Amino acid sequence: PDIAIIVVAAGSGTRLEAGAPKALVGIDAHSILRHALDGVFAALPAQVIVVAPAGHEGDALAELEAAAGDRRDLGRVVTGGATRQQSVAAGLDALWGDVKTVLVHDAARALTPPSQIDAVARAVTAQEGVVPALPVVDTLKKVADGAVVAAVDRSELAAAQTPQGFPRAALEAAYAEAVSAGVEYTDDAALFAAAGNTVRHIDGSARAFKITTPDDLERARHLLGASAT
Ligand code: C5P
Repeated sequence: PDIAIIVVAAGSGTRLEAGAPKALVGIDAHSILRHALDGVFAALPAQVIVVAPAGHEGDALAELEAAAGDRRDLGRVVTGGATRQQSVAAGLDALWGDVKTVLVHDAARALTPPSQIDAVARAVTAQEGVVPALPVVDTLKKVADGAVVAAVDRSELAAAQTPQGFPRAALEAAYAEAVSAGVEYTDDAALFAAAGNTVRHIDGSARAFKITTPDDLERARHLLGASAT
């Protein structure tokens, strides 16, 4: 396939308070990473790079093989870095063959519908990146030192999810620029835009929420119809 999906799963998960790397924490009988990979392999055919926490590459490979089934030749595991950006860079270094489109996906968005992965991949062009995003429902305030200092017009804002999709050549060039500038961005779309590229957005979905806190894990369990394990 000329599409690759880099699944970043190397975060420590300190906010989850589960005592294990976040991606390996169970939702039901299956881990966050396994659910994320089930979604990835249910989407369009793609090369799949799992970026694993250092020391847990074997666990990640087992999850990859379980999700991939007879398509395990499409998958590879690499070791992540200290920041998300470094983990994505490790994934980019591991691409092989004639990949033209790269999707970067948070393993922590474990219940992302495969249709969202497909929609992002379809929307990427030779020049433009794509992010799935949801409208902001809360009323937002700018705050400082305990005081509300300004209102924020939420109609101008959107909450970005993953996978985020990009033309490979421009994404690799943008990563090289970020490394030489020594800048860390919060997501790939910001890094890609900082290099002068255009990023478009398509509709995200509620199920693509990121599992960050114990409450998020509980929500994922409820969505799967499972009780805590
Ligand atoms: O920490 P946060 O929830 O924002 O992380 C988003 C995604 O990036 C997660 O899937 C996490 O595993 C991944 N990540 C990574 N390497 C890091 C930090 C985060 O792969 N050093």
